[in-house]
Amino acid sequence: MAAKKIVITIDGWSSCGKSTLAKRLAKELGYVYVDSGAMYRAITLYFIRADVDIHKKKEVVAALKDINLEFIFNEAAQRSEMYLNEENVEFVIRDLLIAEKVSDVAAIKEVREFAVAQQQKMGARKGIVMDGRDIGTVVFPHAELKIFMTADNAVRVERRFKELYAKNPNISIEEVKNNLEMRDYIDSHREISPLRKADDAVELDNTNLTEDGQFRKALEWALQAKKAKAH
Ligand code: DC
Repeated sequence: MAAKKIVITIDGWSSCGKSTLAKRLAKELGYVYVDSGAMYRAITLYFIRADVDIHKKKEVVAALKDINLEFIFNEAAQRSEMYLNEENVEFVIRDLLIAEKVSDVAAIKEVREFAVAQQQKMGARKGIVMDGRDIGTVVFPHAELKIFMTADNAVRVERRFKELYAKNPNISIEEVKNNLEMRDYIDSHREISPLRKADDAVELDNTNLTEDGQFRKALEWALQAKKAKAH
């Protein structure tokens, strides 16, 4: 009999390495990986381009009707990439300009309803690893394995800075630090689905862990959860 598939959620602060872990776990298990943050980033990109006033509910609702989000697997890069209305936006949504606005957009009720409905559909058949901020608490509250990731602030700033500096050498560490702190604050203090650890989530602090170390730990949890499901 084929082993039963499970849902794995990975939530946590910005730049904790959630996507690195989620991608590797999905690959190892033969599961689909979904980067839910990319969806909020793509919506933000659309709102910026269409000059949507995010404080006007009518404008937001109308704009959402014109947004089609899709993840398409890129064979050459071996990763799924975000498409906004059939345009590949995987690269542009990683820009600091988007990072500066995305938390405010992600705090809007209608935006969350729009994204969460699509995320739940993607996980309906299980066999999925999804990372974000509310995946274990709201999107898949019955997930078989929920991981909550943390890491020291200084380590997270350093990691994000390295990532962004590779694309834009004009960026300063201060800018990155301020953006990270601002996003963490908004994401964890918003009224709707704030970032918080689900009661039944296991915490993974990777401040002093290598990528391999954290992967081994998470894989062990995943295999245990799969085994428990099979019984
Ligand atoms: O994971 P990320 O940095 O790409 O996410 C971008 C923003 O989207 C983040 O600041 C908060 C928001 N987000 C969210 O509110 N809920 C999610 N499930 C994923 C991301």
